[in-house]
Amino acid sequence: MNDPKIPVIAIDGTTASGKGTIAYKLAQYFGFNYLNSGALYRLVAYEAFTQGVSLEDKEGLISIAQNIKPTFHGREVIINGVDVWPIIGTQTYGNPASIVSRIPEVRYALEVVQHGMAKEPGLVAEGRDMCNTVFKDAQVKMYFDADPKVRAERRFKDEQELQSGKTLEQILEEVISRDERDKNKPVGRLYPAEDALIVDSTDKNREEFLQMCIDWCKEKG
Ligand code: DC
Repeated sequence: MNDPKIPVIAIDGTTASGKGTIAYKLAQYFGFNYLNSGALYRLVAYEAFTQGVSLEDKEGLISIAQNIKPTFHGREVIINGVDVWPIIGTQTYGNPASIVSRIPEVRYALEVVQHGMAKEPGLVAEGRDMCNTVFKDAQVKMYFDADPKVRAERRFKDEQELQSGKTLEQILEEVISRDERDKNKPVGRLYPAEDALIVDSTDKNREEFLQMCIDWCKEKG
């Protein structure tokens, strides 16, 4: 359980639905702390690669999750004094993170880290199970989605910058398979909370989208 006195804005959504950008902007707007919970699953995958632990080695992955101690500064994810977000934030770690996230014991271990982030003056937390599991008592809840083709195009732009050589079709396939996995895992599956503001960001421009979310937060207190 997290401290009920700390205000929490919880945001869930599919990959590339805009939750990262909006959550960070909301955190800046309200002066709250920011939690990118996907970064934790990415970190476990990263540590597994670094330590030579296979993604099939359940016990090894659980042990990594139980011992991980990152520090967050804005969008930076610091481990052993180094910001690893430029590495783990890439598409390369998206699928491994999704695989790791299916293990319930990994989720329970990371929940402890996530609750620890709910500190004064408040928290904006984004991911897949913020509203229904980790911060189910959050005062404000939101759920974002967008057409898979539009989300694949957003990812494609990032990949072009990274010169990964992936085609739009390959990325669309990855987006669809990640949605499938995220919505069908045994614990912490992605689905809209009953009391969430639901936004389809397909045709929204960023300013309009952000303003809508700010208004929703204010309406909820
Ligand atoms: O948001 P992201 O793309 O960085 O997340 C990477 C993966 O981590 C995502 O495909 C599923 C998993 N994840 C999760 O299971 N629960 C969360 N709260 C956040 C991410």
